Amino acid sequence: MPSLTTYTLLKQEHNARRGEFKTVHGTVQTPAFQNVATAGAIKGGLSAQDLKDIGAQVMLCNTYHLHLRPGDKLVADMGGLHKFTRWNGPILTDSGGFQVFSLAKLRKITEEGVTFASHLDGHRIFMGPEESMQIQANLGSTIAMAFDECVENPAQHDYSKDSCERTTRWLKRCKAEMARLKHEGISVNPDQLLFGINQGCTYADLRVEHMKQIAELELDGYAIGGLAVGEPTEVMYEMISQVEPYMPKDKIRYLMGVGTPGNIIEAVARGVDLFDCVMPSRNARHGHLNTWSGIINIKNAKYERDERPIDPACGCPVCRNYSRAYIRHLLKADEMLGMRLTVMHNLWFYNHLMERIRDELDAGTFTAFHDRYVKLLDTRI
Ligand code: GUN
Ligand code: ZN
Repeated sequence: MPSLTTYTLLKQEHNARRGEFKTVHGTVQTPAFQNVATAGAIKGGLSAQDLKDIGAQVMLCNTYHLHLRPGDKLVADMGGLHKFTRWNGPILTDSGGFQVFSLAKLRKITEEGVTFASHLDGHRIFMGPEESMQIQANLGSTIAMAFDECVENPAQHDYSKDSCERTTRWLKRCKAEMARLKHEGISVNPDQLLFGINQGCTYADLRVEHMKQIAELELDGYAIGGLAVGEPTEVMYEMISQVEPYMPKDKIRYLMGVGTPGNIIEAVARGVDLFDCVMPSRNARHGHLNTWSGIINIKNAKYERDERPIDPACGCPVCRNYSRAYIRHLLKADEMLGMRLTVMHNLWFYNHLMERIRDELDAGTFTAFHDRYVKLLDTRI
């Protein structure tokens, strides 16, 4: 598997990086946000065309969900995820590691992999590194994530150490299996990239040791996993800063499952390039909307007769057309359109937050931007 130069570092401001990530499905300007479409669609009813319209660069889907339904073989028969969903930009698939540990019941971990009961109908399924790579080969995603164990928080040092070592062995098996699938012409996307995932719970020594091990494997990108799972935010920031010096400078860096706008700004400042999070779409459906002045709850009575857009500083199609009063009414009345419009606004906000971060980095003004917005954007107003 020849490792192409996919990531180019364009500019740096302290630890913050402005870069470019090349894939066969297009070039991603970084720092970037990946829009979560767990089962092949954004919750709230946004299509691939809508994603384009809001300035999205990357879509993220889940191996676990698509394996259960509609089945990865079906997706392969339909020509892969790109053709199936009609999103032709980059798609990252998470490996199932995290979902097996957070959603599935009755799981049992061995050296081979994980046996678990489906959260849909309870039937027993086995997934290990090879199975995860085979499923992701069928999905034909741009980027496949390695099969890992996301250690829960808190966890004992002993357990975390053993788990990390197993995750490293699983990563080597993922790399070998991906090479085999490509060699035998089984992969829907023969140019599929592989990212490794750093684990180690909240133990800096384990995180650093694990990062050093996986950095040697010449992967296409490096993720930090197992964070934002209940530990204090300061601990998460500290873990990023501890492992960052050991992450290859010439590879893209991805912080999995993070986070609030403030978390993203802070993680960019600490050297991260790529993010994903369910928060913008999940919060939107509950009426919690991101604005450049902080977070508003559109269901609040004070917006009942408010003719202004969600955010006067936002240029999204929702803010250009609709009032707070109307959107509040739609959510209160459980109208599908309410969810669609609020999700569209929040995802626009996240994707344009990243664009703003990139502009500030280009201009050399990111540090001032960070200081002004890191707390402000997470404040409820
Ligand atoms: N998503 C958020 N955290 C994780 C993690 O630790 N591993 C995987 N595979 N996905 C994640
Ligand atoms: Zn808007």
